[in-house]
Amino acid sequence: MTTRRAAAPAKVNLTLAVSQRRPDGYHDLSSILVRLALADRLTARPTGDAPTLAGGADRLGVSGLPAGPAADNLVLRAAAALRAHVGRAQPPLEFRLAKVVPVAAGLGGGSSDAAAALAVASRAWGIALDRASRLRVAAMVGSDVPFFALGAAAAWATGRGERLAALPAPAGAPACVLAVPREGVATAAVFEAFDRLRPGRGDARERAEAATQRLVSGLRTGLPADELVGRAAELRDANDLWAALVALRPGLEQLRATLESRTRRPWLLSGSGPTLFALYASLAEARGAVQELGSWSTDQRDGVRLIATGLGAAHGGPIDTGGTA
Ligand code: C5P
Repeated sequence: MTTRRAAAPAKVNLTLAVSQRRPDGYHDLSSILVRLALADRLTARPTGDAPTLAGGADRLGVSGLPAGPAADNLVLRAAAALRAHVGRAQPPLEFRLAKVVPVAAGLGGGSSDAAAALAVASRAWGIALDRASRLRVAAMVGSDVPFFALGAAAAWATGRGERLAALPAPAGAPACVLAVPREGVATAAVFEAFDRLRPGRGDARERAEAATQRLVSGLRTGLPADELVGRAAELRDANDLWAALVALRPGLEQLRATLESRTRRPWLLSGSGPTLFALYASLAEARGAVQELGSWSTDQRDGVRLIATGLGAAHGGPIDTGGTA
């Protein structure tokens, strides 16, 4: 039986401007997302059981990093959403997920796994969705899932994250170092803290939105990797969730100060965090920075995982659907 495979890359947000909460409970946002080389791997093969419409028929095994209970995994939710969308009985699938991207980190790992599940399940079931339907099913699974389902190296996301304009990734082969605190954070909790802090926020949103617009223009005219790195100071202050995250996790302020003084460059927040990242013009430079940071005090090393990885188009597409017997 054919095994379908897909890579599920992580992302970082280079900017994240957040508006007030909407009646449906989500926040309108404006954000630039870029794909990373760091990726989970997903496979799917038919279990051999009879086709069914039942959403709970698929199975999932997870290896690698801890990812929580399989029943809650977005891979199974994505497969169920696709079954429901097409409304026809489909053969149950057995998914295997090799988890490399830390969870609850602001790196979109679970969302990317869901988009990969939509891709492999579509192929296994012979379903060809047009772009609009694919993105609609993706949005039912989560706000970041459409970005990964789009398959672009970079995009400008608006709405609750589901309205997307693909962008060219920075030219060259930029990279980043991720600093991933061991303890993750729930996105919903960060947005709730954002709502509590909102009255005192002043003009932060305008700043994040202006940085977003400038970067959209830059990327559309072929921004080179070193110029992206040169914009890091502006991008550092273009994530509106920083204050909310720090209200929940005050230690992150000190972590960022330490990283910035040790690397002498700005560290940005990805999504709702808690992952911080610094931009580099090449993977070699990013790897060098990880080595230097390796001499950091034992305390901090134990709590923070450092990962050097490529950022953007030069590091391969998200989906690799070769079938093997
Ligand atoms: O869409 P997703 O399930 O990933 O979102 C998780 C939670 O994050 C939502 O329930 C909501 O509380 C918050 N969120 C938000 N505005 C967005 C995206 C997420 O408030 N645009």
